[in-house]
Amino acid sequence: MDDQATGLFTPNRFRHQSVLITGAAQGIGRAVAERIARENGSVFLVDRSEIVHEVAESLCELTCGAVGSATADLETFAGAQDAVAQAREALGSLDVCINNVGGTIWAKPFEHYSEEEITKEINRSLFTTLWSVRAELPELIANGGGTIVNVSSVATRGVNRVPYAASKGAVNALTSALALEAAEKNVRVVATAPGGTLAPERRVPRGPGPEGEQEKQWYQQIVDQTIDSTVMGRYGTLDEQVAPIVFLASKEASYITGSVLPVAGGDQG
Ligand SMILES: NC(=O)c1ccc[n+]([C@@H]2O[C@H](COP(=O)([O-])OP(=O)(O)OC[C@H]3O[C@@H](n4cnc5c(N)ncnc54)[C@H](O)[C@@H]3O)[C@@H](O)[C@H]2O)c1
Repeated sequence: MDDQATGLFTPNRFRHQSVLITGAAQGIGRAVAERIARENGSVFLVDRSEIVHEVAESLCELTCGAVGSATADLETFAGAQDAVAQAREALGSLDVCINNVGGTIWAKPFEHYSEEEITKEINRSLFTTLWSVRAELPELIANGGGTIVNVSSVATRGVNRVPYAASKGAVNALTSALALEAAEKNVRVVATAPGGTLAPERRVPRGPGPEGEQEKQWYQQIVDQTIDSTVMGRYGTLDEQVAPIVFLASKEASYITGSVLPVAGGDQG
């Protein structure tokens, strides 16, 4: 069920708020952008995929705020700076930044990762957030304050994806450490740590996908461990990930900073 079907949205919660969402072409990022648009926020969607423009177009009828989009490679600081500059230009200012890009590219025991693969995993799941936060922070400070929500993962304790786990552990650390510095500048820094989430088939694949029996078995071990680690015995839905992200992004969470909220059916990460 989507948020409209369940009625789980709060009219006008983001009215007069300008929100940047990264990785918004699909999955959790897209669903977050839709929810915030439905709650009348102004949204700026960033992704490496051109699909992001089509998604942004579909949001125009949902919100009375502004809608914009840009493609950028957030694995580079220049890409993150460019995305933030375009968001400010399109929306006038920035109040909330939701850094959602990430995801395991390969699934295998650590001794099977090559140097190049490890670098790519860290670039995808740590640097996209680190560069984005670095680019966003001066904008939020200049604006008198704001909120950063990073989308991490409970897979900091997950099998067959050590480089991804290391990246998300670092996302958790930068969230709590930056919250200490940024509080006096009126900037909150928070994160959610999703568990396994059901979503439509990806239009933009994360990587080559498991090939051969061995790789499929390693991937299956991830799925099995993901479910076994919950106390609810199931994957979550997109709505179940979106709701805590938008809550933490909203003014309702004004006394929460530095927290990483596990959203994983009881798996604490
Ligand atoms: N889906 C899950 O089960 C799950 C579980 C735990 C945590 N998470 C985390 O939630 C977040 C979203 O997950 P998802 O499954 O919805 O993601 P996804 O893989 O479906 O989508 C990620 C989006 O990011 C974009 N992207 C990738 N690299 C980029 C780059 N360098 N610059 C700009 N955009 C880039 C892709 O084009 C894509 O649209 C990720 O950080 C992921 O680690 C997801």
